[in-house]
Amino acid sequence: MSRIKELERRRTFGIVSHPDAGKTTLTEKLLLFGGAIQSAGAVKSNKIKKHATSDFMEIEKQRGISVATSVMAFEYRDRKVNILDTPGHKDFAEDTFRTLTAVDSVIVVIDVAKGVEAQTEKLVEVCRMRKTPIIVFINKMDREGKDGFDLLDEIENKLKLKVVPLSWPAGMGQRFKGVYNKYKEDLVLFNPHGKQSEDVVKINDLNDPILDEKIGESLANELREEVNVIEEVYPDFDRDAYLNGDQSPVFFGSAVNNFGVKELLDCFVEIAPSPLPRETEERMVKPEEEDFTGFIFKIHANMDPKHRDRIAFMRICSGLFERNTNYLHIRKEKKIKFSNPTAFMAEKKEVVDMAYPGDIVGLYDSGNFKIGDTLTEGEKLHFKGIPSFSPEQFRFVNNSDPLKTKQLAKGLVQLMDEGVAQLFTKQDNGRKIIGTVGALQFDVIQYRLKHEYGASCDYEPINLHKACWIKCDDPVAYKEFISKRKRDLAHDKDGKVVMLAESSWALKMAQDNHPKVEFLFTSEVD
Ligand code: G4P
Repeated sequence: MSRIKELERRRTFGIVSHPDAGKTTLTEKLLLFGGAIQSAGAVKSNKIKKHATSDFMEIEKQRGISVATSVMAFEYRDRKVNILDTPGHKDFAEDTFRTLTAVDSVIVVIDVAKGVEAQTEKLVEVCRMRKTPIIVFINKMDREGKDGFDLLDEIENKLKLKVVPLSWPAGMGQRFKGVYNKYKEDLVLFNPHGKQSEDVVKINDLNDPILDEKIGESLANELREEVNVIEEVYPDFDRDAYLNGDQSPVFFGSAVNNFGVKELLDCFVEIAPSPLPRETEERMVKPEEEDFTGFIFKIHANMDPKHRDRIAFMRICSGLFERNTNYLHIRKEKKIKFSNPTAFMAEKKEVVDMAYPGDIVGLYDSGNFKIGDTLTEGEKLHFKGIPSFSPEQFRFVNNSDPLKTKQLAKGLVQLMDEGVAQLFTKQDNGRKIIGTVGALQFDVIQYRLKHEYGASCDYEPINLHKACWIKCDDPVAYKEFISKRKRDLAHDKDGKVVMLAESSWALKMAQDNHPKVEFLFTSEVD
């Protein structure tokens, strides 16, 4: 198959949801359809159980699982589908944001009873910023939940998505009888224990009495009315609008009962985008370009402390990636080749000889890569990623074993390269501050420093509200700001200047006193 055909048949996406909405269950059902796994229960949930939020052994266990489930690839109807795993736990939101840089579309799972939850709002906001095409799957229709129209309103208001229902439920919970598939004009009858394929009724006209026969007169009339309303209120599905991120198709189903999942997948492989062009600081890179380009969006340390190497996950953006071929590592300005690039499947991994745009390969790395690094055949490009966000929690980090100073420094750098947290160095006294999104990472860092680097650290509280990256085009105003605020300044890992604000009031004061200085909550200063 030609390179262009190969890339056109790729569908690389992520499933995002608030924990417990059903992401793992849906992933598993998709993999079953794709034949990538043979039995339910094969995909281990990568969520950190609620009761174990400070148990780092649990985190270690999850980390092992999440290497295996980083990318789950399968073939379906002549498409190569790549599902990228995203952690649902809010403390790992940055990992999810970074993974979203490597997908071409997303499926958002919403629990019909809970509606739009906090974590979903945040993740969808990032997708909207990037204009990522979104399909919504409303899950757990076998349970009592919110009214369908109320839910659509909630999605429009909270997620700011323009929705187009492509399927509509007949009842819910105890009364749930099935889903009318507007897209295909058929009614799929719900039978929790039956085989779905036998229960599809073709309905070209909703007035057909067969509808009353199948789901009862009262529910049939309800469905007719509701579908009428949908047709009046919501626009027709427009694929271009979906691809531009301006319209989001909505499906209903029940993942655990494997209901509505096939309809979702069938529609997904038809409408979801093949690999999209990606922006670099220099120019747009199109997937069909002949020369290979790719970027690292995730780094995973080896679970075995005897082997210090890590796996860097690379998204291929253009051209053809080949094993044992020299590629330019732009930041390091050196050529590297890879003898065992690895493709991750659901339950297995294998060495690949070549890979196409949209594919993710795992590269064994002994410390060459940082998140965001670009590889090319020679052109000096830098893919734009998701910037770092201001952390929410801060602590001073101290060395508690003076004999292991070097190990601590190395461990901290490598963990920061992996994106576990952010490290700031105070300008006045050189003290190091770790900033994280959630409290969990502090335990992760301490534990991993000990087990992987033999170093010990302890933390000291520090009262900080936010870290702001600084931008100022006026050299005089900038100099004045730097000299007046010395005490609050630090450098991030790339040497960018950051102001550590103790409170929102202190930040406001700084803004008022230095009107020519911009205070940014993300590291995207340039
Ligand atoms: P997550 O990855 O988004 O966190 O969610 P996950 O798939 O683990 O699902 C969370 C819970 O919701 C699981 O139950 C799962 O079985 C259930 N679930 C998923 N889809 C449906 C559905 O369509 N209907 C109903 N009624 N439940 C659904 P659990 O009790 O937390 O875990 P388990 O012991 O069943 O694995």
